[in-house]
Amino acid sequence: MLPLPLTLATVFIATLGFLYWYRRSKPKGYKEIPGPIGLPVFGNVLQLGTKMHLQFGRWADKYGEIFQIHLGNRRTVVVSDPRMVKEIFTNDPAFTGRAIFEGFEAYPNEPLGIASIEGEMWEVHRRFLLRQLRDFGFGKSSMEELVQEEVKETIAHLKKFQGKPIKNLKQMLQISVLNSLWTITANKRFNHDDPVVLKMMSDLQMILEEMMKKAIVLFVPIMRYIMPSIKLFDQLKAEGLKFYIDAVDSHKSTYQEDNLRDFIDAYLKEMKAQSNNPSSMFYGDKAERQLHVILGDVMFAGNDTTATTITWAIMYVTKFINIQQRIQKEILEVTGNARPVSLSDRLK
Ligand code: HEM
Repeated sequence: MLPLPLTLATVFIATLGFLYWYRRSKPKGYKEIPGPIGLPVFGNVLQLGTKMHLQFGRWADKYGEIFQIHLGNRRTVVVSDPRMVKEIFTNDPAFTGRAIFEGFEAYPNEPLGIASIEGEMWEVHRRFLLRQLRDFGFGKSSMEELVQEEVKETIAHLKKFQGKPIKNLKQMLQISVLNSLWTITANKRFNHDDPVVLKMMSDLQMILEEMMKKAIVLFVPIMRYIMPSIKLFDQLKAEGLKFYIDAVDSHKSTYQEDNLRDFIDAYLKEMKAQSNNPSSMFYGDKAERQLHVILGDVMFAGNDTTATTITWAIMYVTKFINIQQRIQKEILEVTGNARPVSLSDRLK
């Protein structure tokens, strides 16, 4: 054991080192703002609890609508006023930046895709994705037919339960949402009992859970040496990536210039157009890897969010029966239960 003076000197030097590093890690021009005091190394992570929105609310009451916390070693600014959030994200391109999360990339040390990158690569691909998804029907009436078809399939699937409890409503909705998105991006849909899609959905759920576990390593890097190695996340990530690589490979082998079927074909067309232009973002193997990751981003960003929103809506109307009855009455009045509801019904 070290003698007491040596122990104190070590702690003192370590604290000075930490304070020096902390000051140096401050981004240029960043002005410290009020916020709760945290622990060394962990910052405020341990104070967040499982209901972090409530803790954020308490901090906002104490420190104001904009305050600073530390997630491990990362300075994090929390904005809790909806008007301010809207102003920041709509008016100022400076806020389109993304934090780098090492270990989360689909391809190691190569930030790709749309949701987790910034700069020109993000701008060019985001614009391309939005334009192509719209051209293939996203958000248009042709997509409505696609969604109505999925609703029909889901109702048929629900009827199979014949009054018995439904174990996993969210997974069922995830498959419907996946089908709507995957038809536009890869021109394919899955049946509700297809083992490939069932595995994919349970993997997606596990990935989300494993991400939460792995997140602590992002914010408190020292945990990498304390926590058991987080292998499952990497394995699931690799399996997910393979799904997108296979989809792109099968599109490459059936590609026809004059018959673009979906987003993947549109991207391959752009890659072919830029095949002699090494400075293009759509050039070569990197662009192909970028396509794999964009597909993952669209599925990841669009699937759980939409399925969770619909699951909540169903839970609400299950709890508030009077609202459910009003909705049923309105549907009956408008459609006579003879046809699916449509967006154009909203005007009536
Ligand atoms: C209720 C449904 C949805 C919710 C609540 C939701 C929420 C969000 C939020 C909050 C962000 C911003 C994340 C950030 O700035 O870091 C985002 C980004 C994104 N979402 Fe959604 N989303 C939904 C549906 C969808 C759908 C259906 C798609 C598929 C086309 C999608 C694709 C994306 C993509 C690609 C991004 C990244 C955009 C970028 O970085 O520029 N989302 N979403």
